[in-house]
Amino acid sequence: MRIDYLTLFPEMFEGVLNQSILKRARDKGLLKTQTVNFRDYAHNKHNQVDDYPFGGGQGMVLKPEPIFNAMRQLDTTPQTRVILMTPQGQPFNQKRAESLARAEHLVFICGHYEGYDERIREALVTDEVSVGDYVLTGGELPAMVMTDAIVRLIPDVLGNHVSHEDDSFSSGLLEYPQYTRPRAFEGLEVPEVLLSGNHAHIEQWRHEQSLYRTYLKRPDLLENYPLTDEDKKILERYKR
Ligand code: ADE
Repeated sequence: MRIDYLTLFPEMFEGVLNQSILKRARDKGLLKTQTVNFRDYAHNKHNQVDDYPFGGGQGMVLKPEPIFNAMRQLDTTPQTRVILMTPQGQPFNQKRAESLARAEHLVFICGHYEGYDERIREALVTDEVSVGDYVLTGGELPAMVMTDAIVRLIPDVLGNHVSHEDDSFSSGLLEYPQYTRPRAFEGLEVPEVLLSGNHAHIEQWRHEQSLYRTYLKRPDLLENYPLTDEDKKILERYKR
């Protein structure tokens, strides 16, 4: 996968892209990244990237031409996903991460002012994405959050045999509780079933725990989850 970041603050990406899994993905050649400072493409007197809004009003608006010029230098294809970071965008979630992880080329446009000239949206952007219902000072942190969630899904990034099916949200439910050694820790025991070696029982227990957890912590997720009759019984029993 190739990822280009259009940003006024390329240094912000250095720590994140040069550590841990993202660094390993780059070292293994599974991920290529490039930051592009679109101020370099503002061919005006003071390399100005923003301007006052037509019609008046507060704040500044990102000018179209630095972004358009920077985009023209990128090696895009009709399949490139061009993602505008904005609190007005579609909510980022695991499903969107899975969809973007199948792309070969992503471009993140990270703004830092009140808004974008609408022609950027109209002519360049394929996806508008928000990382949550709060306003940040810029799109860089959201782009890094999305990068992390997307890149870990690329085959071989986390190792050959890691499956994402049990990740929280992948199945539509939260992940079940996990334990490791020791068996007893300061009087707290590991549930017996996990030590039983009975894989069918363990599977069943994990599925029930996922249902309980989701019901307690994120009941909104259950609204879109296809509960089986058996699941409904499990939850009824739990609620009682
Ligand atoms: N830029 C500012 N706030 C944002 C948010 N919540 N999501 C994505 N981009 C943003």
